[in-house]
Amino acid sequence: MISVLIFEKGEDDMSLVPMRQILDEAAKGGYGVGAFNVNNMEQIQAIMAAAEEVQSPVIVQASRGALKYSQLNYLRHLMLAAVELHPKIPVAMHLDHGNCLATCLLAIELGFTSVMMDGSLDEGGKKPRSYEDNVCVTRKVVEIAHAYGVTVEGELGCLGGIEDGHGAGFSEEEAKKFLTNPDQAEEFAANTGVDALAVAIGTSHGAYKFRRPPTGAVLRMDVIAEIHAKLPGCHLVMHGSSEVSESLQDTVRMYGGYLKPTFGVPVAEVQQGIKHGVRKVNIDTDSRLAMTGAARKLFVCEPAKFDPREWLAPARDAMQAVVQSRIIAFGSTGHAFDYSPITLEDAKALYK
Ligand code: G3H
Ligand code: 13P
Ligand code: ZN
Repeated sequence: MISVLIFEKGEDDMSLVPMRQILDEAAKGGYGVGAFNVNNMEQIQAIMAAAEEVQSPVIVQASRGALKYSQLNYLRHLMLAAVELHPKIPVAMHLDHGNCLATCLLAIELGFTSVMMDGSLDEGGKKPRSYEDNVCVTRKVVEIAHAYGVTVEGELGCLGGIEDGHGAGFSEEEAKKFLTNPDQAEEFAANTGVDALAVAIGTSHGAYKFRRPPTGAVLRMDVIAEIHAKLPGCHLVMHGSSEVSESLQDTVRMYGGYLKPTFGVPVAEVQQGIKHGVRKVNIDTDSRLAMTGAARKLFVCEPAKFDPREWLAPARDAMQAVVQSRIIAFGSTGHAFDYSPITLEDAKALYK
């Protein structure tokens, strides 16, 4: 028996909402919502401070790696603390890149209001999964998650890249073969019932996305427009959306860090995506770069300091600055109070 956290309607601390509501509202308002990865307290604080500052709804997401790093319960309680401390900000607690039904069930049990079943890859997260298996596992997750009012994001097509984390490790060239097929996307959404669909359009996770500033030949925003035209009712998700800006890179390098030359996804391209149905924008690498740059700076400039708070606080501030500027760019500023948050119970009834 899965016990989920149900927040009663009318309570003050009811900002923990199903992600579906945040995305539905974003679609109505024509904006995108940032989904920021977290692994520890400072990252959660950075996101919540940014969301509070600009009064925006926000998606706080944890990968399997994050849950393992934090032994599940540390992260769960930190996320719940965020909700408690920011009762007016709609927050969705989301599982990023769930690899199988069991992982999604674990997240639901932990109180997550949204899960991603990434059936684009096999359970190990390294090899592409067949379309049929993807439909089958995603549909199973949808059936169970919706019975608890929990939102489901699926993925069709495979992202490129990543040498040190989630992904099949495709090169820019190989990834072109695994872009989302718009016709298949329509069929996938109908056959699985997902609330949101992550699409592969040439982006990849991590810092090394493109070897030169991306053009439309490699960053296929046209695929997003085509999918949206076929599936106007499905919320699209852009993974691998970090900008990896020169300034974030420069700070890391300036204070002794090493990064190969690289280019990310320009924020202006994400804004184009938002015009074509992108409602959730995943950002992790930019936060990592911002925190690492600030920590490195402190170590170099103030070598006598050894209290971890001396470097964690500027790292947290640097992440807040990046998160805040993304929230503003995605257009969700000021939308925190547009609507009354619904509970998982309400969502359950809506799915029925
Ligand atoms: O999907 C990739 C996210 O950046 C999470 O990365 O698996 O290293 O936590 P991670
Ligand atoms: P970045 O590596 O571009 O930040 O993407 C993060 C992501 O897609 C998490 O699911
Ligand atoms: Zn991702």
